[in-house]
Amino acid sequence: MTAFIFPPFENHGGHLTLDNVDLVDLNEKMGSPLLVVSEKKIRENYRSLDQAFRKQYSKFAIRYAVKSYANLAIISILRQEGAGADCSTPEEIKIANMAGIPHKLITFTPNNSHKNELEYGIEKGVSLNFDDIPQMRLVKGHLPEVVSFRVNPGVGGGEFPGIVTAGPKTKFGIPVDVVKGAYKEAMSLGADKFGMQMMAGSNALDWHHFDAISKAYFGLAGKISQELEIQFKYLDIGGGFGVPYRKDQEELDLESAAGCIVNNLREACSKYGMDEPELIVEPGRSLVSNSAVLLGKVTNVKSYDKTFVGTDIGMNLLLRPALYGAYHHIVIANALGREPEGEADIVGQICESTDKIGNDMMFPKAEVGDTIAVFNAGAYVSSMSSNYNGHLRPAEILIGPQGVSVIRNAESTSDLVKGMNVPEHLLK
Ligand SMILES: Cc1ncc(COP(=O)(O)O)c(C=O)c1O
Repeated sequence: MTAFIFPPFENHGGHLTLDNVDLVDLNEKMGSPLLVVSEKKIRENYRSLDQAFRKQYSKFAIRYAVKSYANLAIISILRQEGAGADCSTPEEIKIANMAGIPHKLITFTPNNSHKNELEYGIEKGVSLNFDDIPQMRLVKGHLPEVVSFRVNPGVGGGEFPGIVTAGPKTKFGIPVDVVKGAYKEAMSLGADKFGMQMMAGSNALDWHHFDAISKAYFGLAGKISQELEIQFKYLDIGGGFGVPYRKDQEELDLESAAGCIVNNLREACSKYGMDEPELIVEPGRSLVSNSAVLLGKVTNVKSYDKTFVGTDIGMNLLLRPALYGAYHHIVIANALGREPEGEADIVGQICESTDKIGNDMMFPKAEVGDTIAVFNAGAYVSSMSSNYNGHLRPAEILIGPQGVSVIRNAESTSDLVKGMNVPEHLLK
């Protein structure tokens, strides 16, 4: 039986390849671990999302959620495709801007910010979404040109609880019953242009989810528009478009998701007499997740009361399984034809029992020196990585029309101590 692999990765003679580059050889040559990204796949992902919406609604914009993978080369690919950026901190705004995205195409949705962080966004003229009313009050003397709040429409959803960001008892946004008061207060402070943002959760694979949340959200925006006699320049529905992480998961039906979002928007516009606003989405995962694999080596196999496949990829490089139980598909990249043998935990080199990248996974017999490939390594992998236990971040490689490019150098020891100072009295 041949191991399942997600496209655009391929099996050539039992080895995992991307655009005819043998990834087992690449990992050998460039050093393990290694993150490998497909430029073509990112462009394809962008185009399918863009087309699904744009053919139905032309006042449409994609703002790439930089937090998902904040590499300058990756942001540049998306900028070439026409994306703006969605940022959660001033530093993300600076990175997006360094990659060539102008401030006017940047959305800034921070939470629990300092006043100076909000002021940075206002000064640069990005689209700022306040997470709460007191956050607006911090800058009431110099509000942004367009005042916008992140709202919690009362419904959330995502692949699992750790990535749900709206609904009851979530830390983000303002609840339905205080939204009107928030915009009223903004008006009393002199605001005359408005936006609204929400983000219900991540990795939703069922398009019905987008029907439910967009109905609630646009209905709320419509009511506010009618009752306060204001218009929204933009309505931003956040990200959350899912991608399969498991071989038996089906792809999100993007056409249906976009179709119901646009229908619900048009219905709310006609029901509440609202002008058609710009519709913004802030995808991260759906643009980059399936474009990359994380390659590593098997360093030990321990089989006593349970089998542990020890590798050089741990929670330092792939935090999601330890953080909130996320699943990532893993294969032996140099032996795709090897039969599954039994259940194993795939673990790293970190001194924590939670250091697992695969839990009770049906896995072939692994041997020291095998190369493993972890799929869906584009989103929330590099950007969530750390140096814990003195591990260096690996090189990041882009495979594109120019061939193989290093888009981030592997770290060295000097990166581990960068910025540290030893006071004089400790030098003796
Ligand atoms: C405000 C905001 N926008 C966009 C995103 C991107 O979400 P996704 O990667 O699910 O598309 C997130 C992710 O958490 C977010 O918090």
